[in-house]
Amino acid sequence: MDSLSLETLAVHAGRDDLKDLGVHAPPIDLSTTYPFTDLDLAVESLDALVEGEASAANAIYARLHNSTVARFENGLAALEGVESAVAFASGMAALAACLLAARWDGKNHVVCVRPIYASTDRLISTGYLGMNVTWTDAKGIFDAIQEDTALVVMETPVNPTIELQDIEMAVDAAGKVPLCVDSTFASPVLQRPARHGATLVMHSATKYIGGHGDVLAGVVACSEEWAKRLREVRVFTGAVLHPMAAYLLHRGLTTLPLRVLRSQETACSLASSLAAHPEIERVYYPDADNGDPHGLVGRQMLGPGPMLSFSVRNGFEAANRVMGRLKIITPAVSLGSVDTLIQHPAGLSQRVVSEETRAAGGVSDGLLRLSVGLESPKDLWRDLERALG
Ligand SMILES: Cc1ncc(COP(=O)(O)O)c(C=O)c1O
Repeated sequence: MDSLSLETLAVHAGRDDLKDLGVHAPPIDLSTTYPFTDLDLAVESLDALVEGEASAANAIYARLHNSTVARFENGLAALEGVESAVAFASGMAALAACLLAARWDGKNHVVCVRPIYASTDRLISTGYLGMNVTWTDAKGIFDAIQEDTALVVMETPVNPTIELQDIEMAVDAAGKVPLCVDSTFASPVLQRPARHGATLVMHSATKYIGGHGDVLAGVVACSEEWAKRLREVRVFTGAVLHPMAAYLLHRGLTTLPLRVLRSQETACSLASSLAAHPEIERVYYPDADNGDPHGLVGRQMLGPGPMLSFSVRNGFEAANRVMGRLKIITPAVSLGSVDTLIQHPAGLSQRVVSEETRAAGGVSDGLLRLSVGLESPKDLWRDLERALG
């Protein structure tokens, strides 16, 4: 399926077995256990699955394998242009699995590029997973690498300032150390980090991949060698994706290119309208003067994306007033849904890190983050304009 365009892959990938099954929509397998008739075959299957094999003659137990989940994983891997993908119960579970899988050969140090999504920052800085961390900006990766560095972690575009980080530069600086890129804000429609040398491509699939605000999930796209390690971590930590959620994510893939490109178009138009509004202090949307000094739009990312942030004059109070006056746009955390959401990062998503970390990452009290949905750009602008007063 390599030569097919993304739109075609989005509709067809991960569905190869449907014809033989005689069905049009992927079946949802809800079994938690799988009867066996031959103990030798069951033993062989269990051995294979706990070692992280993608499938076996008998699925044994739902924490080891599920065919509905595997179909979604195959679809996502095709969109990212890699061999495999491994799905998890949430984006944070996917990230935790990447960190655990990277520790395989006893290495215990991680280099993490700030700013990064606040819960990722907190997970890594608390040391819950027993790893030591060196925090750096993208320019400092090379100097931060140690003998025992297992993984470099970075996010692009960055939540919530929509700053772009150069993946190829990070891969060069990391040398032999694998790079994990959180590509949630871009989705595989706008950015395929593996093409630029990233080893692990992680998504909160709760966002664009699910796309309708009704699924919590995470996924990592990578080589089959890494997928085996990730599956083994998943088997023994148990952060599996529910098959019903996998079905919805697989269905979400079919419209992913349409949704992301349309939202991006609307975000572009809102970014320019906001930039001209007198109540706006600054718009955060990648262009040469803002968030994209290396010209990554076009080279690394297909466009500036469907997420934008802006800061209003008079900080928290003004931000609160704007959100309270909106009629169409919903004040809520999360992103990537069909409807437009607005949130206050300093008060909500970024609150789980210290005030200093927030400030260093450019998260001010007047900052609002907009996840642009599929409504008419005219209606969205009218809603925003009225709320800004
Ligand atoms: C960039 C980014 N990465 C990871 C996550 C965590 O994903 P989840 O909420 O699915 O665990 C989020 C959630 O907002 C996010 O925005």
